Amino acid sequence: MSKLTPDSELELLFDAKLIPDEVKNVGDGLHLRPLSSTDYDRGHLRVLEALTKVPDPGRDAWLRQFQLMQQSKPAAYYTLAILDAATDEIVAVGSLFIEYKFIRGLGACGHIEDIAVDPKTQGKGLGKKLIRALTGLSEALGTYKVILDCSEDNKPFYEKCEYKLVGVQMAKYA
Ligand code: ACO
Repeated sequence: MSKLTPDSELELLFDAKLIPDEVKNVGDGLHLRPLSSTDYDRGHLRVLEALTKVPDPGRDAWLRQFQLMQQSKPAAYYTLAILDAATDEIVAVGSLFIEYKFIRGLGACGHIEDIAVDPKTQGKGLGKKLIRALTGLSEALGTYKVILDCSEDNKPFYEKCEYKLVGVQMAKYA
């Protein structure tokens, strides 16, 4: 039996209609939608633990961050969540950030960030479907390319998602 909270009862980070139909289907018993303002209680941070240590900021601070992203102008933050319909819990999340440019004919570039699949559900194709959905969403929003940074270990995964190695990543941590 489905325990899924209908999208119509949720406050979503962005309009779900922006997600192209051809990337929406992520499998039986699963549901893909924009992050919702109540996903703190659906295991959002627990799933992100697959990626890195995630100290809990508390529900109120989490919600303020959600609202900061939701209110950005122009809209730049697009986080997708995949939910297990049997539990209404998040099993995978990933974000797309839209960077508006002066070059490329005032074009926009999509950045894929913070991909995490619940360790219990890894290896079942969910990561690939999530990248497909974020890429499709970015293209639907009009970006001329989508880029991401990853570890050497994850390079084969992104190659399976049809991404290829271009350039190198540089970083300076504060
Ligand atoms: N090395 C080689 N191949 C891999 C790897 C890997 N590390 N991970 C997945 N694959 C392959 C799979 O075998 C599969 O191949 P197939 O299509 O031929 O069957 C294909 O890639 C798709 O695999 P999925 O099952 O969709 O991968 P999964 O759902 O496990 O998600 C992910 C992959 C996101 C890397 C997941 O393992 C995870 O959450 N890891 C921990 C967090 C993490 O590293 N996130 C990515 C950080 S980079 C970023 O955020 C931009």
